[in-house]
Amino acid sequence: MPQNSSQHLGRNVVVIGTQWGDEGKGKVVDWLTDHAQAVVRFQGGHNAGHTLMIGGKKTILRLIPSGIMHPKVICYIGNGVVLSPEALFKEIAELESAGLNVSSRLRISEAATLILPYHVAIDHAREKKKGDAKIGTTGRGIGPAYEDKVARRALRVQDLFYPEQFAAKLRENLEYHNFVLKNYYQAPELDFANTLAEAMSYAERIKAMVTDVSSALYAAEQAGQNLLFEGAQGTLLDIDHGTYPYVTSSNCVAGNAAAGSGVGPASLHYILGITKAYCTRVGAGPFPSELYDHENPAKQDPIGIRLADIGKEFGSVTGRPRRTGWLDAAALKRSIQINGLTGLCITKLDVLDGLETIRLCVGYRLDGKTLDVLPRGAESVARCEPIYEDFPGWKGSTYGIRDWNKLPIEAQHYLRRVENFCGKPIAMVSTGPDRDETILLQHPFE
Ligand code: IMP
Repeated sequence: MPQNSSQHLGRNVVVIGTQWGDEGKGKVVDWLTDHAQAVVRFQGGHNAGHTLMIGGKKTILRLIPSGIMHPKVICYIGNGVVLSPEALFKEIAELESAGLNVSSRLRISEAATLILPYHVAIDHAREKKKGDAKIGTTGRGIGPAYEDKVARRALRVQDLFYPEQFAAKLRENLEYHNFVLKNYYQAPELDFANTLAEAMSYAERIKAMVTDVSSALYAAEQAGQNLLFEGAQGTLLDIDHGTYPYVTSSNCVAGNAAAGSGVGPASLHYILGITKAYCTRVGAGPFPSELYDHENPAKQDPIGIRLADIGKEFGSVTGRPRRTGWLDAAALKRSIQINGLTGLCITKLDVLDGLETIRLCVGYRLDGKTLDVLPRGAESVARCEPIYEDFPGWKGSTYGIRDWNKLPIEAQHYLRRVENFCGKPIAMVSTGPDRDETILLQHPFE
């Protein structure tokens, strides 16, 4: 049936990390949720850690969309997410004990892949066997769960409601994974009966939340609602476009907001790329503008240590210290290309307060050539020698500033250069962890 052309459709925004994750997406999603009726996660799992500070209170969300903090907003977990029922119910319990009503506002795709205990066991065993060559995963079973999905043997949320078939599929999966655990990794096997009983214990509880997410989102759009898509990890951790193999196992780019939730790509109206005013990475892999790596004495620059300290750069899921470095605008350019970004949001500007000089990476030397955009894949990126532009720092604090004109002129110059190098406008600047500590230049929902 043709659609009514006078129908008012909502406006949808996608929030994407442009670096290696931890850009401060949680706060921005929470801020934008004031203008949305629904928030959607479309990839990753509980490897994400979205930290929110609301009224001075810290909340860390791993799996549940950051919009849950808003009482009237519906939160969706799309088919592209890998879902650990154990992690889900732990997070629900934490939020409900803090007085939030979660279960009634959370909708989970029946097609989301389950993370089961053997995925976690494989993740750990594999990293251990790799030794120094490890990826530095979060150890949550993310990669092994996505592998099962692609191998077409995964158990999905909907399988939980067919106990006999679930048991048969689980038996086959465990037979395979236990073989690998025992014979290849020399790691303990998992018990079938326990694994089954644990999975089944979640079935009834999850059932009320399970729905056909893509149909629900279509209906929401037709009803004129605004949807907010919440990316996890970051573009440079994308399985195809990141510093492979030092990446996560999903597509973190904006295009996956469509495939990972079941909406059409034309429904993604504004793509907001989040970038810190500097750069961090947790886990292994190349990082051209790096200044500090807690495990590598050659990368122990005092400014890098200062960024880690002032920026409180510790993983919100694993607690691992993050590596730090200067903002890499040439890597940002790559992110702009592959995400089709509409605008940028710069976060944690205040962490640069008081530095004498601020450096911005604007390209690399690689094999006798000069590049102004990050190449793909770990081997090439590891050989990139950064080219910097230097900017004078500023005196005084930018913490909590809400008006662009109140920023020190040096900070304005630095940010304008980022904008002009990348060719995309800065829509927002975050100057502190709280909702209100935000400068708005262009509203993604308007
Ligand atoms: P996995 O996603 O646990 O398989 O980890 C693969 C890589 O992605 C590792 O380098 C992790 O540190 C990194 N990673 C996964 N999730 C996040 C995140 O939310 N923030 C930052 N890094 C992440």
